Amino acid sequence: MPDATARPIPVRAPRFALDPELPRAWLAGDPLATHVVNALSLLFPEGERFFIRAVKHYEHVYEDDPALRARVRGFFGQEGRHGHEHDRFNRMLEAQGFELGGFFDFYTRTAWETVEPRVPPHLRLATTAALEHFTATLAELALDTPALDDAHPEVRRMLVWHACEEIEHKSVAFDVLERVDPRWTTRALGLAIGSGVLAVFFGVALRTLWTQEQALGPDPRAPEDRGAAFWRTLARSRGRIARSVAELLRPGFHPDQRDNYELARAHLEPE
Ligand SMILES: [Fe+2]
Ligand SMILES: [Fe+2]
Repeated sequence: MPDATARPIPVRAPRFALDPELPRAWLAGDPLATHVVNALSLLFPEGERFFIRAVKHYEHVYEDDPALRARVRGFFGQEGRHGHEHDRFNRMLEAQGFELGGFFDFYTRTAWETVEPRVPPHLRLATTAALEHFTATLAELALDTPALDDAHPEVRRMLVWHACEEIEHKSVAFDVLERVDPRWTTRALGLAIGSGVLAVFFGVALRTLWTQEQALGPDPRAPEDRGAAFWRTLARSRGRIARSVAELLRPGFHPDQRDNYELARAHLEPE
């Protein structure tokens, strides 16, 4: 198993030219494939700020451990940057004609004002560990399958950067959870809460975008539709996603048992 404690988690601040003039169907000219990824982007900024809050609550657990504290700091920095760039990306969607205020109001009221305060802190942390495992799974797919090959190059650059860093910090929340509450039931509850909440908000985000996409009508800038490769990849990866997520429930599981750090390193831009 790779030694994650020996790997620094650097905070990078790349800039992305997110121009509202780029085609609405930026992913292979396929509007539905594009909105699957856009829907995740709508969830990311506030979701990643929740991850930071959930881990920060347990600062007293890791403050005397310099190695873990440094990794947590890197994790906060990376997630903060992801939230910042996805906020910019989401504003680009608004500039392209999508009305997202209603969705964000619903997301804030429901997820952060209603659900979060009712979930005890150790389960917020377990939910974070589960969703971090899920994002690391998606990140690996983004890097080692052709799913994003036909994406607009600048959006692809942003998603690849995000995916690499999700792999770099994938075990941080899990390691804090192990110190707070290593019970299998806590991990399983985190997975149940995380997948339930993600399914609901992803569904609402996708419906919001898709309804508006149809009302906006054809986009004259859309490239030729080559979305079949994306859907084929997704269909082929379903079993892999399910197996990877289920791994979280295996007794003795640790995220670093899957060594994809090299994959991330190979896709990072030179600094
Ligand atoms: Fe992130
Ligand atoms: Fe993350």
